[in-house]
Amino acid sequence: KSINVILSGGVGSRLWPLSRKSRPKQYLPIFEGETLFQKTALRNKTFCDELLVVGNKDNYQLSRTDLEKAGIAHYREIIEACPRNTAAAITFAALACEPEDILFVTPSDQLIQDGEAYEQAVNRGILLAKEGFIVTFGLQPTRPETGYGYIEAVGEDVKSFREKPDLATAKRFLEQGNFYWNSGMFCFQAGVFLDELAKYEPNVYLKTFNAFRQMNGSFLDEDLSMEIPSISVDYGVMERTEKIKVVPSQFQWSDMGSFESIYDYLTEKGYPKDDLGNLVIGTDKHTEFTGLSNTILIETDDVILVLRKENSQDVKKIYERLEKEK
Ligand code: GDD
Ligand code: MG
Repeated sequence: KSINVILSGGVGSRLWPLSRKSRPKQYLPIFEGETLFQKTALRNKTFCDELLVVGNKDNYQLSRTDLEKAGIAHYREIIEACPRNTAAAITFAALACEPEDILFVTPSDQLIQDGEAYEQAVNRGILLAKEGFIVTFGLQPTRPETGYGYIEAVGEDVKSFREKPDLATAKRFLEQGNFYWNSGMFCFQAGVFLDELAKYEPNVYLKTFNAFRQMNGSFLDEDLSMEIPSISVDYGVMERTEKIKVVPSQFQWSDMGSFESIYDYLTEKGYPKDDLGNLVIGTDKHTEFTGLSNTILIETDDVILVLRKENSQDVKKIYERLEKEK
């Protein structure tokens, strides 16, 4: 059996204030009236027999509404009490499946052009997963982005996986040329993943297993969840496993994870910016920039955020500070 696992638990803090806890970015209907979550579910339906959504108590209603709109009636849910990062989220999904089930794990916050190139990549990934590999999908990098993982590869063989390098390192990877961006989608047998996780992050495995065992229907317990170390699957497993493969992929992909991606997406679509690359989101007010370039101004009902495009990754820090001050 093959199962599409949609991860939908992040708050999208790098897109604050557009993305809020009450409506994270994947539920904003800003892509031709559809949300990224909806698009993800529909795009992967053809490859998988089942759907399993790993979300949380603040957003599962939004997922349900989206799935209803998408005409998807049959799916399973795991509802986290608090986000414990992607290693735990994927582990919950793997524990809910049979060891030989093929899991196709997809984030919920990406814009992907489906079609032949996507189909080819996913089908190849599923095949490699059946052979016992942990499969990543590699995309041609176009800038030294520090918010992604990098895969050093020869063909489908992975020499190293490097999550979120600093700028100097990312630049070096780009110059070297044999590095891909990690798409954030993964494919593997549930049992293979659990074995690798138990090997490299035994405590994550143990604590996640404990929480899973005490699950109340689809709902996880908060106290038990809080004991799970928060680590992403990229650091926890992908950087360390020797079972890793990469499918070099050609499909169009953008991660709507930061204002820089949104900026690129919008300007490619012909969205207006001034001569120095300044751009405004969310307001009809007449706005002028002087002495500034590549600056983005975002206005919502209660917040104004102004940032240089290059500082997109720093928005997360603002969000975290505000959360602490609450
Ligand atoms: N259920 C659940 N619980 N989902 C989560 C949690 C959690 O605690 N944390 C994150 N997610 C979901 C997010 O909603 C998103 O859909 C996906 O998991 C990936 O998390 P991000 O927080 O967006 O990861 P990232 O963008 O920093 O990095 C990952 O994606 C990049 C590509 O977009 C990594 O895999 C990178 O290597 C990769 O390049
Ligand atoms: Mg992301």
